[in-house]
Amino acid sequence: MAKKRLHIKTYGCQMNVYDSARMADVLAPLGYEATETPEDADLVILNTCHIREKAAEKVYSEVGRLRLLKEEKARAGGRMLVAVGGCVAQAQGAEMMRRAPSIDLVFGPQAYQDLPDLLGRATRELMETGRSRVVAIDLAVDEKFDRLPEEAAPQGYSAFLTIQEGCDKFCSFCVVPYTRGAEFSRPVADVLAEARRMVRQGTVEISLLGQNVNAYHGDDGNGGVAGLGELIRRLADIDGLERIRYTTSHPRDVDDDLIAAHRDVPRIMPFLHLPVQSGSDRILRAMNRRHTAARYHEIVGKLRDARPDIALSSDFIVGYPGETDADFQATMDLVRQVGFAMAYSFKYSPRPGTPAADLDEQVPEDVKSARLAVLQDELLRQQEAFNAASVGRIMPVLLERDGRHPGQLVGRSPYMQAVSVDAGSVPGDLKGTIRNVEIAAVLSNSLRGRLAEPVSMVAAQ
Ligand code: SAH
Ligand code: SF4
Ligand code: F3S
Repeated sequence: MAKKRLHIKTYGCQMNVYDSARMADVLAPLGYEATETPEDADLVILNTCHIREKAAEKVYSEVGRLRLLKEEKARAGGRMLVAVGGCVAQAQGAEMMRRAPSIDLVFGPQAYQDLPDLLGRATRELMETGRSRVVAIDLAVDEKFDRLPEEAAPQGYSAFLTIQEGCDKFCSFCVVPYTRGAEFSRPVADVLAEARRMVRQGTVEISLLGQNVNAYHGDDGNGGVAGLGELIRRLADIDGLERIRYTTSHPRDVDDDLIAAHRDVPRIMPFLHLPVQSGSDRILRAMNRRHTAARYHEIVGKLRDARPDIALSSDFIVGYPGETDADFQATMDLVRQVGFAMAYSFKYSPRPGTPAADLDEQVPEDVKSARLAVLQDELLRQQEAFNAASVGRIMPVLLERDGRHPGQLVGRSPYMQAVSVDAGSVPGDLKGTIRNVEIAAVLSNSLRGRLAEPVSMVAAQ
């Protein structure tokens, strides 16, 4: 089979990262091998994100760049196919296809199992008419996972595994229910099989993914339904799977069983991303989040009782339509009361087709910017304090790759902090192992530490 080169550019969330890896698996039997640059690719896939306007804009400018590259290749007698997948494709696929003739194929997040077919159709249309207009944006997810290949490339020591797709929550600012479709949970047996395969291929840490991961309710194989807590307990029985994470959770779906799993299963990392968006009940109600600030505090309290060393991260939106100074202060109060190890924060971005985009009381851009700066200042202060408090502690670090200097390895702490470790004098390869590391210093974007185990012990393993 002729070798072909595939370049995938991934935007957006971890679910897109997982999907891109699976697209490569789907295309491998056709002879496609990954390449780092679009210049030498036969097929370029943009796996796109629609969550904020900026994310979507990036795609259009990339399509523009690819058009030039495509024309250059055509002049040299070659050919490059351009495919746009992911959430922008889902939301605006048909329109993109009309507006950008350089795109050969548009496919949604629930259609990539059909890529070999779709590419075949696109190629035929190109040969016959000189232009391909293949659009596949059907949102039915049920079959996707069943039809993905069992063969998969190794995903490294730390890997993503999608267990849940879509969202039924319809927060009023958010495009996800429209781009990913209705909630769907993979059966427990499928998840276990994929996790076992990953572990056989060398993975030691798995992050379970879903737009609403803790809404997971998968077929348990015995006529019942398993929640996320139950699924995690089953996964924790897999030998060699040392670390389990999950993201992204919704406060509404944190149940007592999941909290108990944090208490009972040491392999769940003591770090949870739990987006709150706002600290104002008025705004939370307008956002259709269906929880209050008090409920968020209650959940955090229960999690901390169950797992006292747990740290939290979150997402925030400032400048949601109608947000007043008092509402914003409520968000700042919540941030100060909870204390976050890290967080993402965004200016509200009106998204076409979502209810909030049409509201009259849009907050002016300069007010959004000012609030964001105040919030980010506080969040950064908290993150720096959290990192500073790590100095002197001994933490297990999953060593994943070589660092910049000889003998240096880089890995992640339980709290997702990047830690560089000088292991130069230690014989043997420590990559892929979890080692106790004494944190010695905070650098700008990472921590530095030294192995806290006797060298002879390390070398013996
Ligand atoms: N399912 C997750 C969030 C997925 S989107 C949850 O329920 O929390 C990731 C983050 O992007 C959101 O948490 C939110 O903070 C942000 N976001 C989503 N839509 C946005 C918009 N229209 N403008 C600004 N930020 C947005
Ligand atoms: Fe979007 Fe809300 Fe669903 Fe999260 S829960 S994906 S923010 S609609
Ligand atoms: Fe973006 Fe789609 Fe993920 S809109 S955040 S890539 S679910």
